[in-house]
Amino acid sequence: TDDLTLRPKFLDQYIGQSRLKQEIAVYIQAAKSRQESLDHVLLYGPPGLGKTTLATIIANEMGVNIKTTTGPAIERPGDLVALLNDLDVGDVLFIDEIHRLPKNVEEILYSAMEDYFIDIIVGQDATAHPVHFPLPPFTLIGATTKAGMLSAPLRARFGIVGHMNYYSEAELSQIVLRSAEVFTTNINEDGAHEIARRSRGTPRIANRLLKRVRDFAQVAAKAEIDKEIVDYALNLLRVDSKGLDETDRKLLTTMIKLYHGGPVGLNTIAANIGEETDTIADMVEPYLLQIGFLKRTPRGRVVTKAAYDHLGLEMTND
Ligand code: ADE
Repeated sequence: TDDLTLRPKFLDQYIGQSRLKQEIAVYIQAAKSRQESLDHVLLYGPPGLGKTTLATIIANEMGVNIKTTTGPAIERPGDLVALLNDLDVGDVLFIDEIHRLPKNVEEILYSAMEDYFIDIIVGQDATAHPVHFPLPPFTLIGATTKAGMLSAPLRARFGIVGHMNYYSEAELSQIVLRSAEVFTTNINEDGAHEIARRSRGTPRIANRLLKRVRDFAQVAAKAEIDKEIVDYALNLLRVDSKGLDETDRKLLTTMIKLYHGGPVGLNTIAANIGEETDTIADMVEPYLLQIGFLKRTPRGRVVTKAAYDHLGLEMTND
């Protein structure tokens, strides 16, 4: 099919992550020609880079169903049994935030992944008895923002590990142009590139900014989104020329004003700007590290000269 949706449905519509895409195409073709289920896949990387999209594409390309859940939603072993029981041969079970799976659930996943069975205790006290559930061959796709938080035995059971990277401006431009087509919105190359430049390497952000800019263009009765309206809208949204938002700037300026730019620990920073440590660790810090505005040191995070320059602040030694 060539119907256009915001999330691409097949690998050849998926822009970027080209090395991973090439790899996955081979594994899919090989598994299909052997008429086997695809090996288990772990996707890790910052939020918004298309892990869920890629999982859906893998299922589509394999011609199987996908069931989607999240780590924290599977509270007890029985919840996992119910999910796995529902799968047909070769189906994909997608578990987002797999690092947040409860320990006792994680442990029964081992035999499910390796040998397609689950042994659990059913009933309580006098009626308690072990039950053996055989499972169809299936593919587990796990997604996580922090591979370091997966236990070693779980990580070891994924035959395919895909590391998702931030997208280049050229790739994000292509994504914006494609999304504009989905929205039947006119945008020129410069406009698309300006959105791409301010999207922190992240398709989810690019698509969100495109929607907002489209609103401004509509109200201004602009026939085409150009750089001028992108600049106007994103300046109003307080997304700066590097794509930093209020939270990013607050983090950097707070580190500079209260701690002379660091070193300072993540928990301290989080408390000072009133955000959860996890939010900072998963959503804010990774991009600032990526563009070289923050550095990790053994004694904590440090603001770099590039960040001072961007913010128009002087580095001092007092
Ligand atoms: N939309 C979100 N992520 C995408 C990607 N990687 N390729 C194409 N469209 C997308």
